[in-house]
Amino acid sequence: MKKIIAIDGPAASGKGTLSRNLADALNFAHMDTGALYRAVAYEVLQTGGDPTQETAALAGCKSLQDKMAHDDVLSNDALRNDTIGEAASKVAVIQSVRDALIALQKSFANAPGEGFSGAILDGRDIGTVICPDAPLKLYITANVEIRAKRRMKELHSKGLDATYKAVLEDMRARDARDSGRKAAPLRPAEDAIIIDSSDLGEAQMLETALTYAKKAFG
Ligand code: DC
Repeated sequence: MKKIIAIDGPAASGKGTLSRNLADALNFAHMDTGALYRAVAYEVLQTGGDPTQETAALAGCKSLQDKMAHDDVLSNDALRNDTIGEAASKVAVIQSVRDALIALQKSFANAPGEGFSGAILDGRDIGTVICPDAPLKLYITANVEIRAKRRMKELHSKGLDATYKAVLEDMRARDARDSGRKAAPLRPAEDAIIIDSSDLGEAQMLETALTYAKKAFG
């Protein structure tokens, strides 16, 4: 059985932290697929392009793929701000952009690399489109006010200015775009286990997920 864990959920749901912790605990390789869309958006914005335009977004994909061959572009700190997050959500609406990123994600899932026991991918469509056969699918959610507070704390800890109202509005807009789009909308796979992280700390999240991983993989 392929050891793949698919983790989906909205922005600031805690899926990224959980994925990293789970990957460490299980010795699985981890791919943050949001970073791919962020990196495409970054390429588009760097060239002054419009992230809602297919031609510009596809040029961003091409540029990313060229750079990925020799650079660790996905670890760029500049990808982590909310301007890039918003632009990423816009390029992610375009089906041809999603298509261009599918092979990369599937091959990571199927061959995570020497020394790893399996693969964890986190994103929006992992359980529904990228790895529909993953033996374990988790859908991490939390109420939008709590997610906005988490995001605000994170921004403040980086010394960035952000009001709760603005972060909450951005979060609602991003949720609506990610869930309302035609191409691979954010939604739990039918066989996903839903975990509400609103009242759970990092350690409790990991413990819960490890219990499911044990059931799935023994
Ligand atoms: O998880 P994140 O905030 O880094 O993702 C940024 C955007 O990328 C998100 O708003 C929607 C898009 N995305 C996607 O459409 N599909 C994925 N598998 C991952 C991210």
